[in-house]
Amino acid sequence: MAEHIAAQIEKLCRTLRRHEHLYYVLDQPEISDAEYDELMNRLRELEARHPELVTPDSPTQRVGGKPREGFVKVAHSSPMLSLDNALNEGELRDFDRRVRQLLGGAPFRYVAELKLDGLSMAVRYRQGILAQAITRGDGEVGEEVTENARAIRSLPLRVADGPAEFEVRGEAILNRRAFERLNLERDAQGQPRFANPRNAAAGSIRVLDPSITASRRLDYFSYFLLVDGQPYRDSHFECLETLAKLGFKVNPHRGVCADVEELLEFCRRWEQRRDELPYEIDGVVAKVDSAAQQRALGWTARAPRWAIAFKYAARQERTIVEDIGVQVGRTGTLTPVAHLKPVEVGGVTVSRATLHNEDEIRRLELEIGDEVLIERSGDVIPKVVRVTSQGGRRKAFRIPKECPVCGGAVVREEGEVASRCINTNCPARLKESILHFSARGIMDIDGLGEALVDQLVDRGLVASVADIYRLSFEQLVDLERMAKKSSEKLLRNIDESRKQPLPRVLTALGIRFVGGRTAELLAETFGSLDAIAAAGQEELTAAPEVGPKVAESIHRFFREPRNQELVERLREAGLKFEHLVTRPKGGPLEGLTFVITGTLPSLTREEAKARIEAAGGKVTGSVSQKTSYVVAGEEAGSKLDKARTLNVPVIDQARLLKMLTNGSP
Ligand code: IVH
Repeated sequence: MAEHIAAQIEKLCRTLRRHEHLYYVLDQPEISDAEYDELMNRLRELEARHPELVTPDSPTQRVGGKPREGFVKVAHSSPMLSLDNALNEGELRDFDRRVRQLLGGAPFRYVAELKLDGLSMAVRYRQGILAQAITRGDGEVGEEVTENARAIRSLPLRVADGPAEFEVRGEAILNRRAFERLNLERDAQGQPRFANPRNAAAGSIRVLDPSITASRRLDYFSYFLLVDGQPYRDSHFECLETLAKLGFKVNPHRGVCADVEELLEFCRRWEQRRDELPYEIDGVVAKVDSAAQQRALGWTARAPRWAIAFKYAARQERTIVEDIGVQVGRTGTLTPVAHLKPVEVGGVTVSRATLHNEDEIRRLELEIGDEVLIERSGDVIPKVVRVTSQGGRRKAFRIPKECPVCGGAVVREEGEVASRCINTNCPARLKESILHFSARGIMDIDGLGEALVDQLVDRGLVASVADIYRLSFEQLVDLERMAKKSSEKLLRNIDESRKQPLPRVLTALGIRFVGGRTAELLAETFGSLDAIAAAGQEELTAAPEVGPKVAESIHRFFREPRNQELVERLREAGLKFEHLVTRPKGGPLEGLTFVITGTLPSLTREEAKARIEAAGGKVTGSVSQKTSYVVAGEEAGSKLDKARTLNVPVIDQARLLKMLTNGSP
């Protein structure tokens, strides 16, 4: 009996798998949805009565997984790099010329594929079973999203006849219909819209609950088949065919091109026809077909030399500017935004476009009521290109004198294009600051999104960024769309963010002109937040890439009492104010701290710094009691004076070089 049931289940699984392939991969269903549902229900019933016979690759198990706590990072089998872009015909020809040159005149061909705008993802199969899915991440390490990938119907849970272990790489996308539907749903729930299908796809894969992924109806087109990180077949084209044979969805609009002329022809043809496709494309990807030639051409640090992305130009449409509103940003900047009569631009409905600032509006000679040409490219915010015809009853726009959010004064400083709300307590500024602080890549506080920040500020639970660290479970759980689990999770994420290193903390403060890289360099130069805060403008410019404008902004920030208070409160919250870097252990300069000032006879400051660090020493930007030596060159300034006052030994380059080898001057 049990054997009989097992056989029945097995047969139903096989039948369902076949119909899923026909429907989701080939787009050629043979049975109705109702018939499919009935088969599925029969299988569900049998499995419910015989849970011991349920296999993980059963079609009923696509959304079996439970929501997870967080994502696990996984290294890629070989880097998932990006592609270089060709923005026009000339650049594509340049690429072709380089390839021909590097291949030394050997014959070769290209495979052209559509470039789908989604999220690239690697999926590993072991013994024919979908075992692991990983997002691209930074290209070296991605996030494991296996359960979510299982919820994508066009990804087989099981394949027959493939290699024992292999990896598929491709693009997870949302087609236009799924994208529009999703945004309508989000409107209805008062959630912010996704700006484009790509963001929507990424946001649908990077969710902790696989049932959300399933509800979003993602699709997956595969374009690489790898075994041990290498192409499985001798040519890319064969890989694509093998993928299709194994049951993967491969984009049917692909072509083999004998030369760059044919390639250009392919690109132009699909630029004409892109609106016929049910999904967004942003260009064409061309790859050298032969795997051996791909190996010969190799990679740069960023991208393969054997492939290129030919990008289509931004798409433009005309529409009417119905109104001009104003947004208040983190630094108080008022940005005028055009409210447009909604118009479809390349499959996405656009109803807002940024106007940047007053000068831009003047340059465009734009008034409310005018017809304009707008442009959308990739994920950037749509912009107004020019006025195409003036409206009958036009109305000029002026930046308001009062902040539309808090009513505070708005000023435009000499030489600046932006007008700002100068009320540092303006709720709009606070909201933006919190979003910036918690953003991905900064303090990484997942779950602190716009809807929640609005509530936190509007209800007075957060009046300063530092208040985030004092939120309690009771305060969170009562908010809209928050529950026990999400509140606990958010508190955990907030707690975790205390571990973010100094450069992140520094970026999170939102000092004008201080982005991630500058923060990194400042942290390295000064070693601690206090040293940066205490540094004078001239000292600040000692950090690489910090010019007078940036130095002034930093200096000003830390002189502002309100910011000083913020810094103190963040210190109390336990954030990292010291820059801890693992330096080589046991070098001759271990434990010693240096400050370099003035011009050294032969070494640049950067070189001297690198050599000190390589020998285990530390270099900071300002002289303090903790400084072991000041290395002074010609025209050493205030730092030399400070060294003398503090009795810090001063050495020259020659003595530094001696120390580098034996540790004492
Ligand atoms: S090949 C190293 N093929 O475009 C090879 N990428 O701009 C990189 N994309 O990261 C990928 N369609 O997300 C390749 N047929 C296609 C593609 C494609 C879309 C995306 C992918 C990639 C990005 C590069």
